[in-house]
Amino acid sequence: MVISNKLSKLYSKQTIFRDKDYLKKGHHPSSLDEVLHRDHIIDIYTNCLRDVMTGSVPDNVFVYGTYGTGKTMLTRLITSEIALAAEIEGHKVLVIYIFCESYSAPSPLLRYINQELVNSIPDLKNKMVGTSISRNLEYFCELVNLIPMPIILIFDEIDKLSNPDIINQLSRIKECGFTQSNICIIGITNDTIFYDNLDGRTKSIIGQNELFIPPYNAEELADILQARANLAFEDKAYEEVVIPLCAAFGAQENGDARKAMDLLRLSGENAELRESLKICEQDVRIAKGKVEINRQVEIIQKLPTQTKAVLFACTHRHGITGSDLETTEIYSSYLNIAEVISLDTVTLRRVGDYISELASIGILSINKISRGRKRGVVNFVKPITDTYIIKQVILQDIRFEELQRRL
Ligand SMILES: Nc1ncnc2c1ncn2[C@@H]1O[C@H](COP(=O)(O)OP(=O)(O)OP(=O)(O)O)[C@@H](O)[C@H]1O
Ligand SMILES: [Mg+2]
Repeated sequence: MVISNKLSKLYSKQTIFRDKDYLKKGHHPSSLDEVLHRDHIIDIYTNCLRDVMTGSVPDNVFVYGTYGTGKTMLTRLITSEIALAAEIEGHKVLVIYIFCESYSAPSPLLRYINQELVNSIPDLKNKMVGTSISRNLEYFCELVNLIPMPIILIFDEIDKLSNPDIINQLSRIKECGFTQSNICIIGITNDTIFYDNLDGRTKSIIGQNELFIPPYNAEELADILQARANLAFEDKAYEEVVIPLCAAFGAQENGDARKAMDLLRLSGENAELRESLKICEQDVRIAKGKVEINRQVEIIQKLPTQTKAVLFACTHRHGITGSDLETTEIYSSYLNIAEVISLDTVTLRRVGDYISELASIGILSINKISRGRKRGVVNFVKPITDTYIIKQVILQDIRFEELQRRL
């Protein structure tokens, strides 16, 4: 095997990136000191958790806000730094991070948490991870009793839990007399209707402290981008207009820092494709088109199952009729889909809420048409995102597999 001359460009090519990782998904600042424009939030959040400094268990915290506003980053940095600060004061803290999309059903979720608890007890003799939910819950309580320090469980994207009642059970272990101490639960979500849909008790449990993380404005995004660009690019790698333009697009998209960073990275890649060593305005504009598609895919992937079912119903029906749809029409298509994939159904009114939610994030459009004074206003709905993309993304979700076979 030889390396062809055609690949020689790989070696000789000059690049405008010093380290592209700084603009990639999942890269976070390494300390709170590097976080910009969140001092006030950091103060409030830290204050919610201050009890760990004296070895006590803090109240639960519910963190919410739109995409890319720093919820995950802030939670990870604040919990790890406060755990370190508490340890220096002589009080250890155990922090367990759970990405709920990976452990959405109660059984795998509990097994994962128990495994993490087991790993934190070095000389535990009887390491057992049960199979049934009730056995795992019992074991969870036994482990909590064995761990002599406050435990913080972070449920990131908590809206992905298939049964949020598990939160209820985990947070009532002391009240029910199963353990000597409570645990602290931090729930994070960008799903605005998730909280409203919870039953009253779960709401009051996870909402002991509510923390809203607001979107960034264009100036704030520009500062965040500038700090990353200094690390990610070689000197003089972009025209002056590039950062303000990426920031302005990010601000238009609900103040999303992740989107602004994607845009900057893709703009750099576009400049490289042109074999240029300087990113220009046109590179950003081309990148914006690409980001839009990636973003839509990501947004659809992250939707809760019920919302996906409603979106699929609307897209499928629209594909058949070719016209805008009334909510009742979408509802009957939704009922068929729910039956095929064995999904519990929600009411027509709730489906109406999901449609409004999908319209507010720019995936569906709602056209209100008046039918005269007596018959009121009727909503006509249609997808505005590419319907092929919507269907393909939803069908990749294993919960929707059965539809693939039936359609
Ligand atoms: N103030 C900031 N300073 C530096 N980087 C930031 C700041 N805010 C957000 N970021 C970066 O923006 C990106 C998105 O942040 P993060 O993943 O925490 O968002 P999120 O609110 O959890 O979004 P989602 O709801 O989509 O999960 C990350 O790379 C994060 O490090
Ligand atoms: Mg997040």
